[in-house]
Amino acid sequence: MKIIDGKAISAKTKEELRLEVAALKEKGVSVGLAVIIVGDDPASRVYVNNKKKACELLGIYSEEYALPADTNMESLLGLIEELNTRKDINGILCQLPLPRHLDEKAVINAISPEKDVDAFHPVNVGKIMIGDFDFLPCTPAGVMRLLDESGVEIEGKNCVVIGRSNIVGKPMSMLLLHRNATVTICHSRTRNLSEVTSKADILVAAVGKANFVTPDMVKEGAVVIDVGINRLPSGKLCGDVDFDNVSEKCSFITPVPGGAGPMTIAMLMANTVTAAKKQNNL
Ligand code: GUN
Repeated sequence: MKIIDGKAISAKTKEELRLEVAALKEKGVSVGLAVIIVGDDPASRVYVNNKKKACELLGIYSEEYALPADTNMESLLGLIEELNTRKDINGILCQLPLPRHLDEKAVINAISPEKDVDAFHPVNVGKIMIGDFDFLPCTPAGVMRLLDESGVEIEGKNCVVIGRSNIVGKPMSMLLLHRNATVTICHSRTRNLSEVTSKADILVAAVGKANFVTPDMVKEGAVVIDVGINRLPSGKLCGDVDFDNVSEKCSFITPVPGGAGPMTIAMLMANTVTAAKKQNNL
């Protein structure tokens, strides 16, 4: 069994991007990202801080807009509209989830597709569907990079994704399909879940439930990718996979923390660099 070191692969990816950002600067092209956070969700705060730190490391200019929890749609959409027109801002990201009184869909729709570095806008989602994408959805793209860096073959393999969210499950399935995998998407209504998952050569867990994937659900020698980030009552972070017991059956497995998580941020940085290049006709 091999543990896939997401932290190391993320560091390598970010170093490549740091060099690319420096080369762009030489050409007079700067890269800028605006991050919007509404309210004070502690998990969102951690993610936004990590995104800002990554920008600093790579030499990407970043601006944070920390708005109060009672922000209304008008002012949020006004800010996005202004950022859409700014030449020095190449990427715009609004950290989700938003407070309940805000219309998440309207916010996603307001971000210019050219600056939508999360790839959440329907235009970008549609492009992913037809395989003609500018921006890769960050978490699924990070998983693909982990598989590629680990030398895992994807073509023709049985891939099972547990979870069908717009952010992870659905785009994850699509990226695997583009690589000629046979893809099954499972969810809360799936019958005989363990029967399906135990046929997976590559199993991706994106459920949001601690220790959901147990050894009986996993085929001997499978590759297991854990996209979950759950906090136990003790405060400890853990994934969707019962790592200690499942890892014994795997050929490859990602840990939590230090697996898929760090890759998401690296891919966000990659999308921001892509946005800057496209907006400067490079
Ligand atoms: N909330 C959880 N994951 C994400 C993400 O990838 N992007 C944004 N904007 N919000 C999130």
